Amino acid sequence: MASEDGKTKRAMIEVDRLTVAYPLARESTFVIAVENVSLDVAEGEVLTILGPSGCGKTTVLNTIAGLVKPTAGEVRLDGKPITRPGPDRAVVFQQHALLPWRTVHDNVRFAIEAQPARRRTSDDDIRRVLGLVGLEGFESAYPRELSGGMQQRVGLARALVADPRILLMDEPFGAVDALTREIMRQEIERILIETGKTVVFVTHSIDEAVLLGDRVVVFSPRPGRISYMADVNLERPRYAYDARAEPGYIDLREQLWEILVGKRDQAARESDESISDTSERPVVLSSHDHTQQQPSK
Ligand SMILES: Nc1ncnc2c1ncn2[C@@H]1O[C@H](COP(=O)(O)OP(=O)(O)OP(=O)(O)O)[C@@H](O)[C@H]1O
Ligand SMILES: [Mg+2]
Repeated sequence: MASEDGKTKRAMIEVDRLTVAYPLARESTFVIAVENVSLDVAEGEVLTILGPSGCGKTTVLNTIAGLVKPTAGEVRLDGKPITRPGPDRAVVFQQHALLPWRTVHDNVRFAIEAQPARRRTSDDDIRRVLGLVGLEGFESAYPRELSGGMQQRVGLARALVADPRILLMDEPFGAVDALTREIMRQEIERILIETGKTVVFVTHSIDEAVLLGDRVVVFSPRPGRISYMADVNLERPRYAYDARAEPGYIDLREQLWEILVGKRDQAARESDESISDTSERPVVLSSHDHTQQQPSK
């Protein structure tokens, strides 16, 4: 990965030939969710992942989170294999499962209660992070008193309060309306510029992927493989001007659209050249093929 000064930028997260196969309980078979995926994320980079439903986006994110173990390959953080969740990574899920009997403030506090290293986090820190996500004044409100978009913000505050180095975001705006989604996307970009976090962001939206990402990765349908990867060459902050009118935006959007509707597929073309029968590759393996390493959640 080359930086502006021509030197190689350090990869913070390395997904190295990752394959994840989930066991199917009813039979002794496996479903291959992702196959032989390799990608790097540099410190401070925002990588967005696009792909059809079921192509393994959540699986890759959960492997980086340490919630899913690789069946083959490895995922490393600062060169060390990831084997479990850690305070350096926070996940923002699509549904935040806020605790209904706790206030906004106490829902955010909940995220640090289990982390001895963060127990010193003060009420001021919580207020600061609630301010960062635009929830100042709502510290004492209960989740039922908040709109869907505000609940998403509590989820984001909960991820930010422990000050992780890496934010793993899994379609965090999936459940909010289009206008809120637009506002949230702009606010996320502002927060990322302010905090310099490293981010992996999963989305179904081409717009969101281009407007948020430094790079966009496209996964093919299951088993997920990388079918395309592109740099996004648009100045930040992108909310400060009409980025959608830029030729770079329009061209990339068009390319991604073509790939996602199946007219172009780099990986398929490349593998067609080397292996002739991959298009009919089954996604379910017999258990004999995976006796060495079994995935766990
Ligand atoms: N716990 C599990 N047990 C068995 N199979 C699973 C499990 N989780 C995921 N899968 C399988 O792995 C595939 C990839 O799932 P994953 O959730 O990673 O996809 P996704 O790209 O995030 O999809 P979506 O966009 O719908 O959220 C799915 O098609 C599913 O069949
Ligand atoms: Mg998913």
